[in-house]
Amino acid sequence: MTRHELPQGMVRAPSLTGPNDGYMPGFGNDFETEALPGALPQGMNSPQKCAYGLYGEQLSGTAFTAPSHQNERTWCYRIRPSVKHSGRYAKLDLPYWKSAPCIDPDVISLGQYRWDPVPHGDQPLSWLTGMRTMTTAGDVNTQVGMATHIYLVTQSMVDEYFYSADSEMLIVPQEGRLRFCTELGVIDLEPKEIAIIPRGLVYRVEVLDGPCRGFVCENYGQKFELPGRGPIGANCMANRRDFKTPVAAFEDRETPSTLTIKWCGQFHSCEIGHSPLDVVAWHGNYAPVKYDLRTYCPVGAILFDHPDPSIFTVLTAPSGVPGTANIDFVLFRERWMVAENTFRPPWYHKNIMSELMGNIYGQYDAKPQGFVPGGMSLHNMMLPHGPDNKAFEGASNADLQPEKLDNTMSFMFETRFPQHLTPFAANEAPLQDDYIDCWDSLEKKFDGTPGVK
Ligand SMILES: [Fe+2]
Repeated sequence: MTRHELPQGMVRAPSLTGPNDGYMPGFGNDFETEALPGALPQGMNSPQKCAYGLYGEQLSGTAFTAPSHQNERTWCYRIRPSVKHSGRYAKLDLPYWKSAPCIDPDVISLGQYRWDPVPHGDQPLSWLTGMRTMTTAGDVNTQVGMATHIYLVTQSMVDEYFYSADSEMLIVPQEGRLRFCTELGVIDLEPKEIAIIPRGLVYRVEVLDGPCRGFVCENYGQKFELPGRGPIGANCMANRRDFKTPVAAFEDRETPSTLTIKWCGQFHSCEIGHSPLDVVAWHGNYAPVKYDLRTYCPVGAILFDHPDPSIFTVLTAPSGVPGTANIDFVLFRERWMVAENTFRPPWYHKNIMSELMGNIYGQYDAKPQGFVPGGMSLHNMMLPHGPDNKAFEGASNADLQPEKLDNTMSFMFETRFPQHLTPFAANEAPLQDDYIDCWDSLEKKFDGTPGVK
């Protein structure tokens, strides 16, 4: 028997299970993958000469000395080192893609805001030209805070590549299918899925099925991670195995191309003579990932009351203050409502955190009308919000049988920092001027007499 043969009668599993073709399961795993056999050095990172004449290069996603449980880096074995993908930079103007701080003295951010879906225009737009910043928070130069964008994409990037040195990008599609061809592999993305593209990773975005619209959270701070589950234990909410990282894929294309870099809130481009997507093999734990939101297992109230919405956190990006996120990504999806003698929708609320919500599909339970798929709302720091009158009356008088909330998927980007509206969000996007009126018809029920009203 050779060392590769199993004992007689023993059956070995295939190396991948389920619908994992092209992806490797796990969140923050130490992956290894090679598009050509033997391209990945074994047992070391920097051989004197790499196989196939490749160059070894490390991509450090955290400081060298970051704590071990947070330390992220990936070793790439590529046709050319990344420094060959750079050159003389020329400033590029992308007027709709803003970075924090973006505080316009003529724009008021103090308020409750809601927008209809930003419509597609007539002009073809790419991932870069189609990005529309709605809010910014914090400061891109000190690497705290975030920005929220809507993307409107109808055109593939051709011989055009991009990376953000400022941020990792959390992408939440609402309409259409996109393909992210990255240095570390290919992610196909559609509504009900999300993806994270790490800071510094080069990619181009192609339209598989357009027009495409969705939401982006640009995280300037510490990377997204899975929230601690506390007493919930080892399972439910987002499970690590449901995150998928692409296997290595490269192209050896010598074509005049453009690389655009977002750096400290500015955009610069340079001309290169080839595709930078030339990583043949890689290993490490700093990599793009996608996740199917339908695998999120919600946990909630099973007798009375309901927990804070943090119970629905998919991913959290910590700040320096324990438990106070730079960003939480929170999902409100289909679930059963069973609590007895309880006002079941979200309660009325004032929050030190700033809450930006988006609707992926269906109807949100606290707002039966007006908050439509593709639409967004913003309830900024310490500004009150809650169910509108129709939701309040409906929930207050409902026969509290077990009820399935079906056909609903909304999310929240919640940050510890106030979110400032961009001029686009205030003046060009379809802001609902009458949003504040949705609470007008809430009645005074108190008349000084005891008893339930
Ligand atoms: Fe809230």
